Amino acid sequence: MHTPRHLLRTSDLSISQIQSILLQAQTYKDMRHRENLKNKTIITIFFENSTRTLSSFEIAAKRLSADVVRLDVSRSSTTKGESMSDTAANLNAMKPNAIIIRHKNAGAGYYLKSQVSCPIINAGDGAHAHPTQAMLDLLTLKEHFGDSFSNLKGKKIAIIGDIKNSRVANSNIELLTRFGLEVILVAPPHFLPPTTLPTTTHLRDIAKEVDVFMSLRTQTERHDKQIYGSLKDYAAQYCITADILGDRDVVVLHPGPVHRNIDIDDEVLRDPRCKVLEQVTNGVCVRMAVLEFCICA
Ligand code: NCD
Repeated sequence: MHTPRHLLRTSDLSISQIQSILLQAQTYKDMRHRENLKNKTIITIFFENSTRTLSSFEIAAKRLSADVVRLDVSRSSTTKGESMSDTAANLNAMKPNAIIIRHKNAGAGYYLKSQVSCPIINAGDGAHAHPTQAMLDLLTLKEHFGDSFSNLKGKKIAIIGDIKNSRVANSNIELLTRFGLEVILVAPPHFLPPTTLPTTTHLRDIAKEVDVFMSLRTQTERHDKQIYGSLKDYAAQYCITADILGDRDVVVLHPGPVHRNIDIDDEVLRDPRCKVLEQVTNGVCVRMAVLEFCICA
């Protein structure tokens, strides 16, 4: 039987597959509607809140003329006690061409993939992985550094904040190190995962050495108790301010949603070096290319 092409984590893809998906994504930057996924049906099923990622996937699917069915989880039978396994079997019986899932539990996509015969695309599973986010971040950086993958080699990126609970950090660490970037993790000790990468608790100490600042939101929903003094204390040390950037030629990224003046301050959010909205635009193009890659394999 034909094995579907799933995307559950960035390491599912080789460097050359990622390069070709991102090059294809760039051809979609004109935002024109196309018919590449005409007559294909895509189900989105989000068990966790999302603004950007859900709309980004749905816009991507529609720009390629796919039919998109959003399973409203709050009204679905999972709230009536149906098991994930039965939900999966029923979804599969409708013969979709792909299922895009977000779930609060790490590994949900792996479970689903064993139950269905179409590609599963992970739109974020617990603190584990968020592959399309890392791919859109990589595209945004590639475009910034002369639109070349080889220029990324040796560039220094600080990933700042709640790294331990962040699927965005996990996926970016895997992907960006593979493309030759040097990653340094910057966080209070309780937000740092065990790692072999360089780490520091002092953002100001390394601010002058880095080319990219990737700020993360504190994942309060994943904390079972309050593990920081207050977000204000956190901001005093880790908020990206104009003063931290100075006049250096750097890039500021954030996956959103941004905690304003805690993760990044208002002034930096208005600064052209801050690429948050470019990330959102690139997200649609990357997801178009990912859907096509998985469905048209
Ligand atoms: C992130 C997520 O949900 O993992 N956001 C996103 O997908 N753009 C990060 C976050 O919620 O902080």
